[in-house]
Amino acid sequence: MTDNKAIIEKIKEVLGGRSELKAYVRSFGCQLNVSDGEKIKGLLKKMGYGFTEDENEADLIILNTCAVRENAEDRVFGIVGSMKKLKELKPELIIGISGCMTAQEHIAEKIRKSYPQVDFVLGTSAINSLPRLLWNCLDGQKFSADTSEYADFSEGAEQVRESTFKASVPIMFGCNNFCTYCIVPYVRGRERSRRAEDIIKEVTELAAQGYKEIMLLGQNVNSYGNDLDGGMSFPQLLRSLNEIDGDFVIRFMSSHPKDASKELLDAIFDCEKVAKHLHLPVQSGSNEILSKMNRRYTVEKYLETVDYLRERDPGFSLTTDLIVGFPNESDEDFRQTLELIKRVKYDNIYSFIYSRRTGTKAAEIDDRISEETKGLRMRELLEVQREISTEHYKRFLGKRMRILADGESKKHEGFLTGKSNEFIIAEFAGDSSLIGQFVDIEVTEVKNWAVIGRIID
Ligand code: SAM
Ligand code: SF4
Ligand code: F3S
Repeated sequence: MTDNKAIIEKIKEVLGGRSELKAYVRSFGCQLNVSDGEKIKGLLKKMGYGFTEDENEADLIILNTCAVRENAEDRVFGIVGSMKKLKELKPELIIGISGCMTAQEHIAEKIRKSYPQVDFVLGTSAINSLPRLLWNCLDGQKFSADTSEYADFSEGAEQVRESTFKASVPIMFGCNNFCTYCIVPYVRGRERSRRAEDIIKEVTELAAQGYKEIMLLGQNVNSYGNDLDGGMSFPQLLRSLNEIDGDFVIRFMSSHPKDASKELLDAIFDCEKVAKHLHLPVQSGSNEILSKMNRRYTVEKYLETVDYLRERDPGFSLTTDLIVGFPNESDEDFRQTLELIKRVKYDNIYSFIYSRRTGTKAAEIDDRISEETKGLRMRELLEVQREISTEHYKRFLGKRMRILADGESKKHEGFLTGKSNEFIIAEFAGDSSLIGQFVDIEVTEVKNWAVIGRIID
C-alpha cells in the first residue's frame, strides 16, 4: 500500500507555488464508475486541485472510462486522440486514463503504444495509487501505470460529489455472474461487499447533511453480503437503512432476477423510505437466449417475481435492460422479447444492441445476424415500448405524485424536471429554488417519456 499522505504532501508542496491548478475529470458508463470519479476528485482536492468542466483550461485531465460496449470505448479513443493538440499547446498538461477500459490488457497496450499524449493509466481497483502516479509525472517520468488489484474500498475517503442532494453509495464491487456477453467481471473482479456498519454510517451522514436520494449501487445488489462472514443480507440492509432519521428516498441498482427473493420484495413494500420501483434487467424474453447468456433464470421464473409485485400493487413500477441481437438471436427469440415487454408493461426500458467484447464467452460464437437486422429490431422494440409507456403512464392521470425536483427542464421554459418515487420523469411549472426539494404534483397529462403536472400545496 502506498503512503498516500506523504506523497500528497509532496505534491502539494510542488504545486503549491502556482496559481490554482484545475482538473477535468470525466466519467463514462455506469453509476459505479461515476462514484469512482467522485473518489478520484476527492483525492485531487486533497492535493490542492480545483475543478473545471472545460478541458481546454485544465492542467490535469482524467478520463474515467467504460468498457461495456465497443461504442463507449471508441468514444474515449476519439477524445484521447483529440487531446494530442491540447498537449502540444500546453506541454505541461497531464493526461490520465482510469476505469474499466484500462483493465483489458489489449486496450492498455493500445493506449501505451498509440497515444503518447497519455501520461498514466490507473486501474479500476487502484484509485489509491493516483497520488503516486501523479508524482511520477511531476517527477518527469514519461509513462506510468497501476492496474493491480487491491481489495481496498478507501473507507472514509473524501469524495467530491456531483450533486448536493442525490448521492450514490456503492455497497459492493465486482461481479460473480459471468453473463456470457459481459466484460464487467473481467474488468471489475469478483464480488466484494462493504461492511454494513460502514454503509449505514455513510448513509446516516448523508441524511444528516440533507441528501434526499440515496442510490445503493452494485452489479447485483441481491448477492450483497454473501462474501462476508455472518453479515447482513441485502433485504436486512434495506431494513436497517430505512430506520435512519431523515426525509430521503432509498433506491438501488441493479438486481439480478435470479436472486430477487421474496424477502427483497417484501422489504420494498415494508420500508417506507425505499422507492416503490424495481429495476430488474431481463435482457431477453427467450429462454433459449437467456440460457446462452448464462442468466440462470427462465422467463417463467422472472414473471413469478413480476406477478408477486403486481399482486401486492397492480401499478408497481418496473424498468429493465434488454440486449437486442445477441449472437444468432432468431426472429422468434426477438418476438418473445416483444411479448414479454407487452406482458410486463415496463415504465421504461434501457435497450442496447449486442456488442462483441473480446475475452467473453459470447465473443466466440459465430454470429450470423446482420447489423441491419439488429438495427431494425431495435427500432421495433423502441416503438413498441413507446406505446406501452404512453398507455401505462395513464394510471398516474389525476393522481398525486411525490417528486424530487432535480433541475430545469430543457424542453419547456419555466418548468422543472424531476423523478417520482416510482422513477418516472415528471415536468411541472416551478421556481428553480425548488431544485433539490421534494414537491407534490397532480398529474395533468402523460407523454411517452414523462408525466406533466402542477404543484399542489
Ligand atoms: N449488473 C447489471 C445487471 O446484470 O443487470 C448490469 C450491468 S451492465 C453495466 C448494464 C447493461 O449493459 C446490462 O444489463 C446489459 O443490458 C448491457 N450490456 C452488458 N454487456 C453488453 C454487451 N456486450 N452488449 C450490449 N449490451 C451489454
Ligand atoms: Fe455483467 Fe451479468 Fe455481472 Fe450484470 S450480472 S455485471 S450483466 S456479468
Ligand atoms: Fe462500464 Fe465498467 Fe460500469 S464497463 S458499465 S463503467 S462497471
